[in-house]
Amino acid sequence: PEGITVQELANRMAEKGADLVKALFKMGMMVTVNQTIDQDTAELLVTEFGHNIQRVSDADVEIDTEADVDAPETLKARPPVVTIMGHVDHGKTSLLDALRGTDVATGEAGGITQHIGAYQVKTKGGDLLTFLDTPGHEAFSEMRARGANVTDIVVLVVAADDGLMPQTIEAINHTKAAGVPMIVAINKCDKPEANPQKVRERLLEHEVIVEDMGGETQDVEVSALKRTGLDDLIEKIMLQAELMELKANPDRAAEGTVIEAKLDKGRGPVATILVKRGTLKVGDVFVVGEHSGKVRAMVNDKGQNVKEAGPSMPVEVLGLGGVPLAGDLLSVVENEARAREVATYRQEQATKKRTTAAPTSFENMFSALN
Ligand code: GTP
Ligand code: MG
Repeated sequence: PEGITVQELANRMAEKGADLVKALFKMGMMVTVNQTIDQDTAELLVTEFGHNIQRVSDADVEIDTEADVDAPETLKARPPVVTIMGHVDHGKTSLLDALRGTDVATGEAGGITQHIGAYQVKTKGGDLLTFLDTPGHEAFSEMRARGANVTDIVVLVVAADDGLMPQTIEAINHTKAAGVPMIVAINKCDKPEANPQKVRERLLEHEVIVEDMGGETQDVEVSALKRTGLDDLIEKIMLQAELMELKANPDRAAEGTVIEAKLDKGRGPVATILVKRGTLKVGDVFVVGEHSGKVRAMVNDKGQNVKEAGPSMPVEVLGLGGVPLAGDLLSVVENEARAREVATYRQEQATKKRTTAAPTSFENMFSALN
């Protein structure tokens, strides 16, 4: 450790530099505010002033989620996370609505109010599936760019009358880049002008080879309007999910990914969190991106308040200190002090990043003067 100047330490402790100099003088050290003191002396000063020591090196402050591996025996099966993608108007929302209609748990068909952009469907066999509605592919690629690969399976919706369109191809490329298995849902098959075979042929041009043509990509002919082919689609998703043996440890401090976040006029910062592992509970203290918080309430996809959310479950979380970014990770921590420490550290790092680009020219200016 290189040490710290007295002034910088004073700033971090929110004390006056001169007071630190005085204290150091009493300890037998003659220094000015601009001089650097070593770490031991700094720590002594911090305790002397009645503050807690917060280390600022990455290793000490940052939460190392990667090193925090769950033991194999703690892992339990979790629902697959399925993202629906496709060209505008190809029936993505209609298909989602239709699938929600097959949710035997709620028994509600169609018009369920969608409170969050992610929800769960229970199959006839009682299995849960998590669906993500990413409006446009930007959200998908933005999250991926931020290192958050939340999707296990992509369902590509292609309208059988319209065929492959620019955003279809974009979706194919995103899916390939993410290395996520894809299932093609050829929609609007009820239309007289529907030509599903042409869709399969055009997919070949983009190296998406369906099973009928000797490939490995599963495809299903559906009609969101007539609600046909939906069971088949669910079955194929479940089959794919089984192959992947998706698992997570539900009995640990929760970790989740921000799917979307906003500042709600009445409720303050609100984030839709997809739990990755552990179980998120009301009252849990957490860090999310550069913000700390405490779970005040959680709302599920049906608009109901819930007390807990396990792996692959999407929930709206209230009680954030600020609005995080899509793709940010939420980590539950021991206490509020720890949450603030990590959040403050991340804010400092972000500020440093934002300000390091400009000062280079400053330095150049000074060296030019010398
Ligand atoms: P964006 O959200 O704008 O990207 O569109 P989308 O992909 O969600 O399409 P949406 O579900 O809004 O459907 C677009 C239009 O296609 C609507 O008028 C639907 O009624 C119609 N549509 C969707 N699915 C089907 C289908 O299976 N058959 C027929 N005939 N029409 C459908
Ligand atoms: Mg839509």
